This record gives sequence, C-alpha cells and structure tokens, in this order.
Amino acid sequence: MVQLTGEEQAALAGGEGPAVQKAMQIITALAEIYEASSLVPVASAQIAGVSYKNLGDAGLEFLEEWAAGGARVRVPTFMNPAGMDLERWPEMGIAAEFARKQQRVVEVLLSMGVALTCTCTPYLVGYVPQRGEHLAWSESSAVSFANSVLAARSNREGGPSALAAAITGRTAAYGLHLTENRGATHIIEVRCPVRSEADFGALGYLVGSQVEDGVPYFCFRGKGSLTKVPRVEELMALGASMAAGGAVALYHIEGVTPQAQKALERGETASPSVAVLPAIRIDDLSPAYAALDSPLDEIDFVSLGCPHSSLSDIERVAALLDSKRIRATLWISTSRQVRSQAERHGFVQSIEAAGGKVFADTCMVVAPIEDMGFQAMATNSAKAAFYSPTHSGLQRRFGTLEQCVEAALTGHWPGPSHDREA
Ligand code: F3S
Repeated sequence: MVQLTGEEQAALAGGEGPAVQKAMQIITALAEIYEASSLVPVASAQIAGVSYKNLGDAGLEFLEEWAAGGARVRVPTFMNPAGMDLERWPEMGIAAEFARKQQRVVEVLLSMGVALTCTCTPYLVGYVPQRGEHLAWSESSAVSFANSVLAARSNREGGPSALAAAITGRTAAYGLHLTENRGATHIIEVRCPVRSEADFGALGYLVGSQVEDGVPYFCFRGKGSLTKVPRVEELMALGASMAAGGAVALYHIEGVTPQAQKALERGETASPSVAVLPAIRIDDLSPAYAALDSPLDEIDFVSLGCPHSSLSDIERVAALLDSKRIRATLWISTSRQVRSQAERHGFVQSIEAAGGKVFADTCMVVAPIEDMGFQAMATNSAKAAFYSPTHSGLQRRFGTLEQCVEAALTGHWPGPSHDREA
C-alpha cells in the first residue's frame, strides 16, 4: 500500500483541482499496480505520444479535456517528436487535415506548459538530467540514455503517466527508481568487432531480443575489444535498438558507463556471485543484419536520424554530399535546436543544395510515411529498420551512415550491408 504525504493526499482528494486530482489518481494507480511504497519527486518529464499518427482523435480529445480542466505541468517537461516538421510540413507531403490535428496536439501541450522540443534527444539540447535525479521520461531511447549514460533514474513511462507525473511533480517509486533494480541481470561478452553506429544498433537488437527487460552488462573482449570509447551517437544507437528489440531501459558497459562497477556489486547482492548471472556471448552481428535488412537493390528513400541526429552526424552527411547531387529522397530528422546549429555551420545548406532535407520536430517512425509512396528505405538505425515494415509499410536496407549516403547518391544499395572484418 503506497504511503502518501499530506500534500499528496490533499492533491488526490481534489484540493488542487480536478486536473491535478486526475493526474494523482493515475500516479497512485500505477503505484498500487507496481506495489510502490511511496512516490518520489521528479526533476523533469518527457512526453511521448505527441504524433497525431499514434495519438488519433481519442488521444487528442483526452488531452484537450485534461487541459480544459486546468492541467499545467510543474516541472520542466518536453515533447517527443511530432508526426511532421511543424513549419516545413508541406515539403514532407503531409495532408492538411493531418497537419491541422497535429497542430492541435502541440497547442494543447503548449497550453499545459510543455516545452516545444519535439525531440527524443533532449539531452543533446540542454535538458541534461543530473546523476541520481528521478525522471518521468517516456521515449524508450531517451529513457535508456538517461539511465545508462547519465545515471539518472526513469522508468519507461507511457505518455499519460509521464504527463501525470509532470502535473503532480511525482512518480511512483518502483522499477529503475530503486537502487536494487539497477544491478546487472546478464553479462554480455562481445567477441566480434563493433565499429559503427549501425554495428552498435545491431548489437543492441541481438541483446534486446534475448534479455527482454533485463539489465545487460557489456564486456568487450578479444576481437571485440573496444579500441576507443564509444561515441555518444553509438551509445544512442545501442540503447535505442535494445529498447526496440527488447524492453531494455538500462545497460552498463564495463569501463564506459558511470554505474558499471556498482551494477556488478548490486548484482552480487541480488545473487550469490556475478558468476551466476546468465552470460550471453556475441560472436557475430550477422543475425541482426539478416533480421533487419531486406534484400533490396533500388532505394527510393533514405532516412537518417533515429534517434534524432546530433550536430556531428549532420556534419558527416554534409561532408559526404559536398557538391554532389542525390537521386533518392534523403531526409534527416533532428531537433529544431540542432538544426539551427547546423544551419549556423552551413551543414543544412550543403545537404539541401545536394537535394536532401533536414527536418525538425519529427521522425520517420512517427510521421505518416506510409502515405508518401516510398517503397524501399535505407537507414543506419536498427530501431528504424526494426519498426519500418510494421509502422511505415516499408522494406529497408540497414547499414552505416556512409552506405546510406551512397544509396541516396546512386539510388542503389552499395552493399555488402556491413563489413565485419574491415
Ligand atoms: Fe526518436 Fe523517432 Fe527513433 S522518436 S528514437 S527518431 S523512432
């Protein structure tokens, strides 16, 4: 039975109005389901389910009703990607009716005080949680990054529960908010080279599908030894694909992530010794590439930026496209802040002069891509490759950023899809 403070009890009883009461009802119901003994204050919230494609009319009406009842967030709260670039949506070929509904979703969230970030990488644009802070974030790759790389604490919230946490400033203390649940559950011994963001995505897909909602602890050994600290973009790719292929919300990498050592100590607390943790050995990434890569030659759509592209990745694309002209449609998705930075450096201008587009506020999984007539997509994201057949009706090639840019230039997949021995 959850113990509430006097203030929390008053909010639940309606003392702060019906909107806060409804939010507190959601939080306490979750506390009961997950047998939390108390609530914890959250430092920030991130709201998924912003795309009208996922939300639909019922979701939009639910939000409008809550806002009309006086719902306002009381901690910094930011939006996940919407179903379109909020300014350049006509260039994406978005239908006017979809755009009108999408604007309503954004307006209702703005009216509650949610920041217009529309990104799954808030940590790249200034919303960097402090170590140990409790959060109510909901986009799975953002949750994974916050827990694993930043050592903050968040469960993978649903859109309504994240919003309820934002409105009350509280979430239920269960799951990854508790130290005892943050220890490693599986040892992952990696013995093959892992060299690009695509390889990290492939690794994450393999591990996620085996450990499900466990907490993997990665050790790189032998040929799989890390020759350098993984780039932020590679950690983003690893976390995103583990959350897609499984439901991993926290991982540790020996010598890399901040809580790795403690994760094993806690593993020992939970079990007699680390040796009894299940061990998974990864010798080869081919099964992931085989699962995520369709045998296509012609490519008419190239999608980069899942999770949302960093400035550094946009710079890489701009350099590869320098003074060239693409044949296939190339869309890069990022946050509006990163796009502005990339504009200041001239990267967006270089990419768009070559025929590509750098869209903000959206991504190709939550946009209505299935209505746009594309047949075959190339992506460097294991997560996007995982979801595109079911969410967007697209077959896909999955490989490195360089292979994807080559596909944009020629309209053909350059293959082989990855070079494990290179
Ligand atoms: Fe982000 Fe969309 Fe991928 S929300 S992680 S870019 S599916």
